[in-house]
Amino acid sequence: MTDRYAVIGNPVAHSKSPLIHRMFAEQAGQDIRYEAILAPLDGFKATIERLRNEGYKGCNVTVPFKFEAFQLTTQLTERAQAAQAVNTLKFDGNTALGDNTDGAGLVRDIEQNLGIALHGKHVLLMGAGGAAYGVVMPLLATGANLTVANRTIEKARQLGTAFTAKGKITASGYEDLHGQQFDAVINATSSGLSNEMPALPDTIFAANALAYDMVYGRETPFMAFARKHGATIVADGLGMLVEQAAESFLLWRGVRPETAPVITALRG
Ligand code: ATR
Repeated sequence: MTDRYAVIGNPVAHSKSPLIHRMFAEQAGQDIRYEAILAPLDGFKATIERLRNEGYKGCNVTVPFKFEAFQLTTQLTERAQAAQAVNTLKFDGNTALGDNTDGAGLVRDIEQNLGIALHGKHVLLMGAGGAAYGVVMPLLATGANLTVANRTIEKARQLGTAFTAKGKITASGYEDLHGQQFDAVINATSSGLSNEMPALPDTIFAANALAYDMVYGRETPFMAFARKHGATIVADGLGMLVEQAAESFLLWRGVRPETAPVITALRG
């Protein structure tokens, strides 16, 4: 019987996940079905219950349900526990295992696809919301020297405190960044969606720096700023999207799909 999976969100119609997982399944010779399901804003739990009753093996969870998904699990991976958010659920009998593959996806895109080792590098993560929490633990695990900046500095401090057991994070406001340079600047804020960007100093990029926006499918003001102010590599979040999907596929199917052909197909 064909195993069924889905991505659940609101909105979800724009999601590329069904296409990505179809390409993975074809490539890996796996017999699965994967669809996008719109859950009402007050109906995430009911949607999950329905899918479990219908025998779905798992699902991806996207905005705005990642925290609700975290609360519905019976087991959590360490990285999901640290992120306090779940983007991947795996159902098996009475267990609902929650994982968070976003950070691993980001790190794989930077280290494997873009070829930039983060160990010992000065990395600036912008934002202290859900998107930032999702990637902190895998970033720390690379051995990067991590600074988190946020418009509301108190939230950057809270994030630093939440991860003290996992590694050292310097919390900062944007105005405190003057005079500092970073090898990688990662945008985990939602500012690009409203065509804005955090108030970064022009001199923020070190030599050969990477500018990475976790948003995909558009040139954000941060990406344009990075091109103008000396970043050597400017990337959007499409590679991260495909890599987080591959991590989910691995968790469900025990096979890691090839991501490069899928990224190429999506860029085409
Ligand atoms: P998400 O789940 O996408 O992370 P969120 O939890 O609402 O969404 O967090 C949004 C993040 O983007 C926050 O860090 C927010 O900064 P504040 O905590 O100060 O609100 C950041 N953000 C949104 N718009 C921004 C802007 N124009 N400039 C700087 N930061 C912005």
